[in-house]
Amino acid sequence: MDNNVIVSETIEKYEKYINPAVARLFRFMGLSTIEWEAEGTIIRDIDGKEYIDCLGGYGVFSLGHRNPKVVEAVKCQLDTMPLSSKVLFDKPMADLAELMAEVTPGDLQYSFFVNSGTEAVEGALKLARVHTGRHKVISTINAFHGKTLGALTATGRDLFREPFQPLLSGFSHVPFNDIEALKKVIDHETAAVIIEPVQGEGGIIVPSDDYLPAVRQLCDEYSALLICDEVQTGLGRTGKMFAVDHYSVVPDILTTAKALGGGVMPIGAFTAKASVWDKYITSPFLHTSTFGGNPLACAAAIAALEVIKEDKLVERAAEQGAYFIAKLKEIQTSYSDVIMEVRGKGLMIGIDLAKEGIGGLMMSELVNNGVLVAYTLNNPKVIRIEPPLIISRQQIDFVIKVVADAVKKAHEMIEDF
Ligand SMILES: Cc1ncc(COP(=O)(O)O)c(C=O)c1O
Repeated sequence: MDNNVIVSETIEKYEKYINPAVARLFRFMGLSTIEWEAEGTIIRDIDGKEYIDCLGGYGVFSLGHRNPKVVEAVKCQLDTMPLSSKVLFDKPMADLAELMAEVTPGDLQYSFFVNSGTEAVEGALKLARVHTGRHKVISTINAFHGKTLGALTATGRDLFREPFQPLLSGFSHVPFNDIEALKKVIDHETAAVIIEPVQGEGGIIVPSDDYLPAVRQLCDEYSALLICDEVQTGLGRTGKMFAVDHYSVVPDILTTAKALGGGVMPIGAFTAKASVWDKYITSPFLHTSTFGGNPLACAAAIAALEVIKEDKLVERAAEQGAYFIAKLKEIQTSYSDVIMEVRGKGLMIGIDLAKEGIGGLMMSELVNNGVLVAYTLNNPKVIRIEPPLIISRQQIDFVIKVVADAVKKAHEMIEDF
């Protein structure tokens, strides 16, 4: 079949069977093609046009696309036992749980595996409530924790929350990076404070160095649990294995997902201190999942953790990220009417535009010139750069050139008005 026919039929099916608004939005951003194959940092569309993946599936593709070791591990598992009987002991899950205890900070020990980030957050919230016997949860404004009902209640954007009210009771939201605001709300009924160490969808917001340690201390004072949501920041993205490692903070519960499946399988987890797991130990079926921690996903995650270690991806993210941010800051200095700020940690980078309207133009310029990006969900003024951690210096230089050209165009447009 002719490629144009496949593309137009796919878009028609989106309009008819998925959502016409999604189809319209993709088209508006100049995305009128379909993805066909991917390898490493490159995505190819149906016509073979190549894009450098600078979005990385919102953090999923830290190892790049189709990492050979992860693919091999999944194929091997597929040929032996793809899904678990749930009756006999399951080796991949046990091996992965041991590895999680090793790579996560401090004395985090027990893991429960799920299929997505939002499920990891649901599990963490339930665990905090059942362990403490309290029901209050404090989250932050503009946080993103997912969209199932519990996680959505923690998510800090009204646009997503309001249509579904009433959500869970007992939740409040305070400004991120504002310890005084947290002090006013936390009390002896607080079960947990849930926080992204670097806010992702909120616009790549990096807190001041003393914020997370102060949150940790406050939680301890009130015997509230600290849940750190590392669904996006975890597993090397920010230049440390976990973003909390930048601040030497050990949470009571840590959530992971996205990159955990090595870019091949969906998997998430919540991992907690042994003391916090007490109620699940007395009653192990309080929280269960049919597909959570299935052997295919665990095999992918085990291979992913091995690749992250062997290929030194954490160190790589720190180095390449510092270079990327420095180069973007040079563009910002020359065109401060277009870019207000460049910020980030490792390869979790946000370009904060001076005006929201510039975002559409920037995105379509970048995409047309072979660089895939997107803006952050809770802050459309911020274009995120979250490439695979394996991105090369040469590819970064190419992206920098494309960004510089797009910014120059935007600057000329602003001047014309
Ligand atoms: C910090 C954080 N938590 C939770 C989620 C939800 O993950 P998922 O979309 O896999 O449910 C996301 C997704 O972007 C996230 O960034």
